[in-house]
Amino acid sequence: MNIQQALKNSYSLLNGRFQTYKLDCEILLADTLKMKNRLDLFLNLEKHLTKNEINTFFYYVRERQRFKPISKIITKKEFWSLDIDVSKNVLIPRPETEVLLHLVSKVLKNRLNIKFLDIGCGSGCLTLALLKIFFNSKGEAFDISKESVLNTKLNLKKYNKSERVKVFHRDLFKFKTHRKYDLIISNPPYLKHSEYINLCPSIKNYEPKSALVSDNKDGIKFYNHIIKNLKENLKLNGYIAFEIGDSQFMKLQKLLIQNGFVVISKFKLINDQIRCLLAKKTKNYTLQQ
Ligand SMILES: C[S@@+](CC[C@H](N)C(=O)[O-])C[C@H]1O[C@@H](n2cnc3c(N)ncnc32)[C@H](O)[C@@H]1O
Repeated sequence: MNIQQALKNSYSLLNGRFQTYKLDCEILLADTLKMKNRLDLFLNLEKHLTKNEINTFFYYVRERQRFKPISKIITKKEFWSLDIDVSKNVLIPRPETEVLLHLVSKVLKNRLNIKFLDIGCGSGCLTLALLKIFFNSKGEAFDISKESVLNTKLNLKKYNKSERVKVFHRDLFKFKTHRKYDLIISNPPYLKHSEYINLCPSIKNYEPKSALVSDNKDGIKFYNHIIKNLKENLKLNGYIAFEIGDSQFMKLQKLLIQNGFVVISKFKLINDQIRCLLAKKTKNYTLQQ
Protein backbone atom coordinates (compact mmCIF):
# COMPACT_ATOMS: atom_id res chain seq x y z
CA MET A 1 0.00 0.00 0.00
CA ASN A 2 1.37 3.43 -0.91
CA ILE A 3 0.64 6.81 0.71
CA GLN A 4 -2.08 7.69 -1.80
CA GLN A 5 -3.95 4.42 -1.17
CA ALA A 6 -3.55 4.67 2.60
CA LEU A 7 -5.04 8.14 2.56
CA LYS A 8 -7.93 7.11 0.33
CA ASN A 9 -8.80 4.16 2.60
CA SER A 10 -8.54 6.20 5.77
CA TYR A 11 -10.66 9.07 4.38
CA SER A 12 -13.49 6.62 3.80
CA LEU A 13 -13.26 5.40 7.41
CA LEU A 14 -13.58 8.89 8.93
CA ASN A 15 -15.77 10.60 6.32
CA GLY A 16 -19.18 11.46 7.78
CA ARG A 17 -17.86 11.45 11.35
CA PHE A 18 -15.62 14.51 11.27
CA GLN A 19 -15.74 17.59 9.05
CA THR A 20 -11.95 17.59 9.24
CA TYR A 21 -11.63 13.93 8.22
CA LYS A 22 -9.07 14.56 5.48
CA LEU A 23 -6.91 16.78 7.63
CA ASP A 24 -7.14 14.29 10.51
CA CYS A 25 -5.99 11.36 8.35
CA GLU A 26 -3.14 13.39 6.88
CA ILE A 27 -1.88 14.49 10.30
CA LEU A 28 -2.02 10.89 11.54
CA LEU A 29 -0.20 9.51 8.52
CA ALA A 30 2.48 12.23 8.54
CA ASP A 31 3.05 11.45 12.22
CA THR A 32 3.22 7.69 11.57
CA LEU A 33 5.83 8.25 8.88
CA LYS A 34 7.70 10.80 11.06
CA MET A 35 7.33 13.42 8.38
CA LYS A 36 7.70 17.08 9.27
CA ASN A 37 4.31 18.05 7.87
CA ARG A 38 1.42 16.97 5.64
CA LEU A 39 2.97 18.50 2.56
CA ASP A 40 5.61 15.74 2.58
CA LEU A 41 2.81 13.20 2.06
CA PHE A 42 1.77 14.80 -1.20
CA LEU A 43 5.35 15.01 -2.38
CA ASN A 44 5.70 11.25 -1.83
CA LEU A 45 2.33 9.79 -2.85
CA GLU A 46 3.91 6.73 -4.48
CA LYS A 47 6.02 5.80 -1.44
CA HIS A 48 5.19 2.36 -0.04
CA LEU A 49 4.39 1.85 3.63
CA THR A 50 5.93 -0.97 5.67
CA LYS A 51 3.65 -3.46 7.44
CA ASN A 52 4.40 -1.75 10.76
CA GLU A 53 3.54 1.66 9.36
CA ILE A 54 0.23 0.37 7.98
CA ASN A 55 -0.66 -1.22 11.33
CA THR A 56 0.22 1.90 13.30
CA PHE A 57 -1.60 4.24 10.95
CA PHE A 58 -4.85 2.27 10.88
CA TYR A 59 -4.67 1.80 14.66
CA TYR A 60 -4.55 5.61 14.93
CA VAL A 61 -7.48 5.94 12.52
CA ARG A 62 -9.54 3.51 14.60
CA GLU A 63 -8.74 5.53 17.72
CA ARG A 64 -9.96 8.63 15.91
CA GLN A 65 -13.15 6.76 14.98
CA ARG A 66 -13.70 6.47 18.73
CA PHE A 67 -13.47 10.29 18.97
CA LYS A 68 -10.02 10.39 20.54
CA PRO A 69 -8.59 13.89 19.94
CA ILE A 70 -5.83 13.98 17.33
CA SER A 71 -3.36 15.53 19.81
CA LYS A 72 -3.99 12.67 22.24
CA ILE A 73 -3.25 10.16 19.48
CA ILE A 74 -0.02 11.74 18.27
CA THR A 75 0.76 13.00 21.84
CA LYS A 76 1.67 16.51 20.79
CA LYS A 77 0.12 19.86 19.96
CA GLU A 78 1.42 23.03 18.37
CA PHE A 79 1.15 25.98 20.75
CA TRP A 80 2.73 29.41 20.23
CA SER A 81 4.68 27.79 17.37
CA LEU A 82 6.18 25.30 19.80
CA ASP A 83 5.80 21.56 19.49
CA ILE A 84 4.39 20.68 22.91
CA ASP A 85 4.43 17.01 23.93
CA VAL A 86 1.25 16.01 25.75
CA SER A 87 0.96 12.80 27.74
CA LYS A 88 -2.19 10.78 28.46
CA ASN A 89 -3.61 12.55 31.52
CA VAL A 90 -2.49 16.07 30.70
CA LEU A 91 -4.72 18.72 29.15
CA ILE A 92 -4.12 19.44 25.47
CA PRO A 93 -3.15 23.12 25.09
CA ARG A 94 -5.99 25.13 23.55
CA PRO A 95 -5.69 27.92 20.95
CA GLU A 96 -7.70 30.34 23.13
CA THR A 97 -5.06 30.02 25.84
CA GLU A 98 -2.59 31.63 23.43
CA VAL A 99 -4.61 34.84 23.80
CA LEU A 100 -3.29 35.14 27.36
CA LEU A 101 0.19 35.34 25.90
CA HIS A 102 -0.82 38.05 23.42
CA LEU A 103 -2.24 40.14 26.28
CA VAL A 104 0.87 39.66 28.39
CA SER A 105 3.38 40.24 25.61
CA LYS A 106 1.70 43.54 24.67
CA VAL A 107 2.02 45.10 28.12
CA LEU A 108 5.35 43.60 29.12
CA LYS A 109 7.02 43.82 25.71
CA ASN A 110 10.05 45.81 26.85
CA ARG A 111 10.71 43.67 29.92
CA LEU A 112 12.65 40.66 28.73
CA ASN A 113 13.83 39.49 32.15
CA ILE A 114 10.59 39.04 34.06
CA LYS A 115 10.10 36.54 36.87
CA PHE A 116 6.86 34.57 36.47
CA LEU A 117 4.77 31.94 38.23
CA ASP A 118 2.64 29.51 36.18
CA ILE A 119 -0.08 27.91 38.34
CA GLY A 120 -1.47 24.58 37.08
CA CYS A 121 1.20 24.29 34.39
CA GLY A 122 -0.24 21.15 32.72
CA SER A 123 1.85 20.39 29.64
CA GLY A 124 4.03 23.44 30.34
CA CYS A 125 2.69 25.26 27.28
CA LEU A 126 2.38 28.67 28.97
CA THR A 127 5.76 28.36 30.66
CA LEU A 128 7.52 27.42 27.42
CA ALA A 129 5.82 30.25 25.53
CA LEU A 130 6.75 32.81 28.20
CA LEU A 131 10.38 31.74 28.02
CA LYS A 132 10.23 32.22 24.27
CA ILE A 133 8.62 35.68 24.47
CA PHE A 134 10.75 37.01 27.32
CA PHE A 135 14.31 35.93 26.43
CA ASN A 136 15.83 36.44 29.84
CA SER A 137 12.85 35.55 31.96
CA LYS A 138 12.97 32.98 34.73
CA GLY A 139 10.03 31.23 36.26
CA GLU A 140 8.42 28.74 38.52
CA ALA A 141 5.63 26.38 37.57
CA PHE A 142 3.65 23.91 39.59
CA ASP A 143 0.75 21.50 39.27
CA ILE A 144 -1.14 19.13 41.54
CA SER A 145 -0.78 16.38 38.92
CA LYS A 146 2.53 14.50 38.97
CA GLU A 147 2.09 13.62 35.33
CA SER A 148 1.75 17.32 34.44
CA VAL A 149 4.88 18.19 36.41
CA LEU A 150 6.81 15.52 34.53
CA ASN A 151 5.28 16.60 31.22
CA THR A 152 6.34 20.23 31.82
CA LYS A 153 9.85 19.12 32.77
CA LEU A 154 10.15 17.00 29.62
CA ASN A 155 9.03 19.87 27.40
CA LEU A 156 11.54 22.19 29.08
CA LYS A 157 14.27 19.63 28.54
CA LYS A 158 13.29 19.18 24.91
CA TYR A 159 13.76 22.93 24.35
CA ASN A 160 16.87 23.06 26.52
CA LYS A 161 15.26 25.50 28.96
CA SER A 162 15.26 23.47 32.17
CA GLU A 163 17.69 25.77 33.96
CA ARG A 164 15.36 28.75 33.64
CA VAL A 165 12.33 27.25 35.39
CA LYS A 166 11.80 25.46 38.66
CA VAL A 167 8.93 22.99 38.29
CA PHE A 168 7.35 21.35 41.30
CA HIS A 169 4.49 19.19 42.45
CA ARG A 170 2.17 21.27 44.65
CA ASP A 171 -1.47 21.88 45.49
CA LEU A 172 -2.37 25.55 44.97
CA PHE A 173 -4.39 25.51 48.18
CA LYS A 174 -1.28 24.55 50.17
CA PHE A 175 1.21 26.66 48.23
CA LYS A 176 3.10 29.33 50.16
CA THR A 177 6.17 31.34 49.17
CA HIS A 178 8.00 34.55 50.07
CA ARG A 179 9.11 35.10 46.50
CA LYS A 180 7.82 38.03 44.45
CA TYR A 181 6.91 37.80 40.78
CA ASP A 182 6.32 40.23 37.92
CA LEU A 183 3.65 37.98 36.49
CA ILE A 184 1.34 35.29 37.82
CA ILE A 185 -0.32 33.39 35.00
CA SER A 186 -2.93 30.67 35.28
CA ASN A 187 -5.46 28.76 33.28
CA PRO A 188 -6.93 26.89 36.24
CA PRO A 189 -9.90 24.52 36.27
CA TYR A 190 -12.93 26.82 35.93
CA LEU A 191 -15.96 24.70 35.01
CA LYS A 192 -18.85 23.92 37.33
CA HIS A 193 -19.74 20.22 37.62
CA SER A 194 -23.02 21.00 35.88
CA GLU A 195 -21.13 22.45 32.88
CA TYR A 196 -18.77 19.47 32.73
CA ILE A 197 -21.66 17.03 32.32
CA ASN A 198 -22.60 18.69 29.04
CA LEU A 199 -19.16 18.52 27.44
CA CYS A 200 -18.65 16.38 24.33
CA PRO A 201 -17.35 12.78 24.73
CA SER A 202 -13.99 13.57 23.14
CA ILE A 203 -13.27 15.86 26.10
CA LYS A 204 -14.99 13.82 28.84
CA ASN A 205 -13.40 10.54 27.74
CA TYR A 206 -9.90 11.75 27.03
CA GLU A 207 -9.12 14.88 29.07
CA PRO A 208 -8.43 14.88 32.83
CA LYS A 209 -11.51 16.03 34.74
CA SER A 210 -9.30 17.52 37.47
CA ALA A 211 -7.87 19.95 34.90
CA LEU A 212 -11.31 21.26 33.99
CA VAL A 213 -13.70 21.22 36.95
CA SER A 214 -13.48 23.75 39.76
CA ASP A 215 -16.56 23.65 41.98
CA ASN A 216 -20.29 23.53 41.69
CA LYS A 217 -21.02 27.08 42.80
CA ASP A 218 -19.56 29.53 40.32
CA GLY A 219 -16.28 27.96 39.21
CA ILE A 220 -14.16 30.75 40.68
CA LYS A 221 -12.59 28.88 43.60
CA PHE A 222 -9.08 28.92 42.07
CA TYR A 223 -9.12 32.62 41.07
CA ASN A 224 -10.46 33.56 44.49
CA HIS A 225 -7.59 31.76 46.19
CA ILE A 226 -4.91 33.14 43.85
CA ILE A 227 -6.12 36.74 44.08
CA LYS A 228 -6.53 36.77 47.87
CA ASN A 229 -3.59 34.61 48.89
CA LEU A 230 -0.92 35.31 46.30
CA LYS A 231 -1.37 39.05 45.78
CA GLU A 232 1.47 39.71 48.23
CA ASN A 233 3.71 37.62 45.98
CA LEU A 234 3.18 39.95 43.08
CA LYS A 235 5.38 43.04 42.82
CA LEU A 236 3.65 46.41 42.77
CA ASN A 237 2.70 47.06 39.11
CA GLY A 238 2.99 43.34 38.48
CA TYR A 239 0.39 41.46 36.46
CA ILE A 240 -2.03 38.62 36.87
CA ALA A 241 -3.19 36.83 33.70
CA PHE A 242 -6.13 34.44 33.80
CA GLU A 243 -8.05 32.36 31.34
CA ILE A 244 -11.61 32.42 32.70
CA GLY A 245 -14.95 30.68 32.19
CA ASP A 246 -18.25 31.93 30.84
CA SER A 247 -20.00 34.56 32.96
CA GLN A 248 -17.15 34.78 35.50
CA PHE A 249 -15.75 38.15 34.45
CA MET A 250 -17.93 40.53 36.52
CA LYS A 251 -17.35 38.58 39.74
CA LEU A 252 -13.63 38.38 39.11
CA GLN A 253 -13.33 42.05 38.23
CA LYS A 254 -14.99 42.95 41.54
CA LEU A 255 -12.70 40.61 43.43
CA LEU A 256 -9.64 42.03 41.69
CA ILE A 257 -10.61 45.63 42.48
CA GLN A 258 -11.23 44.74 46.14
CA ASN A 259 -7.72 43.33 46.28
CA GLY A 260 -5.85 46.26 44.73
CA PHE A 261 -5.91 45.33 41.03
CA VAL A 262 -7.23 47.00 37.89
CA VAL A 263 -8.28 44.99 34.86
CA ILE A 264 -6.29 46.43 31.98
CA SER A 265 -7.24 44.14 29.10
CA LYS A 266 -9.62 41.36 28.24
CA PHE A 267 -10.48 39.14 25.31
CA LYS A 268 -13.99 38.32 24.15
CA LEU A 269 -15.07 35.23 22.24
CA ILE A 270 -17.51 35.45 19.30
CA ASN A 271 -20.38 34.69 21.72
CA ASP A 272 -19.41 37.81 23.73
CA GLN A 273 -18.05 35.81 26.68
CA ILE A 274 -14.80 37.11 28.11
CA ARG A 275 -12.25 34.28 28.06
CA CYS A 276 -8.97 35.96 29.09
CA LEU A 277 -8.13 38.87 31.34
CA LEU A 278 -5.05 40.75 32.40
CA ALA A 279 -5.00 42.77 35.63
CA LYS A 280 -2.34 45.03 37.15
CA LYS A 281 -1.60 45.28 40.85
CA THR A 282 -1.80 48.97 41.64
CA LYS A 283 -2.05 48.89 45.43
CA ASN A 284 -0.08 47.09 48.07
CA TYR A 285 -2.99 46.67 50.45
CA THR A 286 -6.48 45.21 50.55
CA LEU A 287 -9.39 47.64 50.54
CA GLN A 288 -11.93 45.16 51.85
CA GLN A 289 -12.34 41.40 52.05
C1 LIG B 1 -7.02 23.95 32.52
S1 LIG B 1 -5.57 23.02 32.94
C2 LIG B 1 -4.32 24.12 32.31
C3 LIG B 1 -3.05 23.48 31.91
C4 LIG B 1 -2.09 24.40 31.15
N1 LIG B 1 -1.68 25.51 31.96
C5 LIG B 1 -2.76 24.90 29.89
O1 LIG B 1 -3.08 26.10 29.81
O2 LIG B 1 -2.97 24.09 28.97
C6 LIG B 1 -5.51 23.24 34.70
C7 LIG B 1 -4.31 22.60 35.39
O3 LIG B 1 -4.42 22.87 36.80
C8 LIG B 1 -4.02 21.72 37.51
N2 LIG B 1 -4.62 21.74 38.86
C9 LIG B 1 -5.88 21.35 39.21
N3 LIG B 1 -6.05 21.52 40.54
C10 LIG B 1 -4.89 22.05 41.02
C11 LIG B 1 -4.45 22.44 42.32
N4 LIG B 1 -5.26 22.33 43.41
N5 LIG B 1 -3.19 22.92 42.47
C12 LIG B 1 -2.37 23.02 41.39
N6 LIG B 1 -2.73 22.67 40.14
C13 LIG B 1 -3.98 22.19 39.95
C14 LIG B 1 -4.48 20.56 36.65
O4 LIG B 1 -3.78 19.39 36.97
C15 LIG B 1 -4.22 21.12 35.24
O5 LIG B 1 -2.95 20.74 34.78
